[in-house]
Amino acid sequence: MNHAVAEEVASTTWFHRIDLGGGLVTPGIDDTPFKLTKIHLPADLAGQSVIDIGAWNGAFSFACERRGAARVLATDWYCWQGAGKRGFDIAKRALGSHVEEREVKVEEISAASLGTFDLVLFLGVLYHAPDPIGYLRRVREVCAGMAIIETLVDAEDYPRPALVFYEGDTENRDATNFFGPNRLACEAMLREVGFREVRKMDEFYGNRMVFHAFV
Ligand SMILES: C[S@@+](CC[C@H](N)C(=O)[O-])C[C@H]1O[C@@H](n2cnc3c(N)ncnc32)[C@H](O)[C@@H]1O
Repeated sequence: MNHAVAEEVASTTWFHRIDLGGGLVTPGIDDTPFKLTKIHLPADLAGQSVIDIGAWNGAFSFACERRGAARVLATDWYCWQGAGKRGFDIAKRALGSHVEEREVKVEEISAASLGTFDLVLFLGVLYHAPDPIGYLRRVREVCAGMAIIETLVDAEDYPRPALVFYEGDTENRDATNFFGPNRLACEAMLREVGFREVRKMDEFYGNRMVFHAFV
């Protein structure tokens, strides 16, 4: 194990568990390797361009690079403000990664400013949106192929498209959680913003779902 890297890793807090090699795995609270199996990321991304919206420590950006993506752009805002980007920077350096990065709010993502991408990752962000349709329009605009959407879901017993609104910090004591959509709402909203086909790919933890959407 590289002790200098191990010291750097220990100097910050982590969300993702990222294997940096040499027996060093970042101590995130998130079970990232498990989540990676549930999002059904294509095994071969050779030549593809990818944008990871809300990348945080970058585990899924690095996974795309490892699978051969020609270009990966990691974007985030809230968790990258202040000390929050240190984890991404440490992992990127330790992995010798060429993942690009841009501090940009979802609300400011556009094809005009960033271009379009073969694959858009939108993992764990939808329920943080005060304006879910608006956020999904940003996802659709920069998507030239496929988007992977992973989200909290709620109201699964309601037989029509529905979103539960979380006042204040009533969902998981986190005031940045706004709406929990049900499966029907996820599928309907993705079609509404212009995805031609939407497939539910998986579910886990009893309240998380994964969709693949195609332009
Ligand atoms: C729950 S984390 C998910 C991180 C990672 N995508 C994953 O699935 O493990 C949500 C991420 O979205 C980012 N985020 C939430 N709202 C955002 C916004 N409006 N603009 C940019 N980033 C946002 C947060 O900063 C955070 O890094």
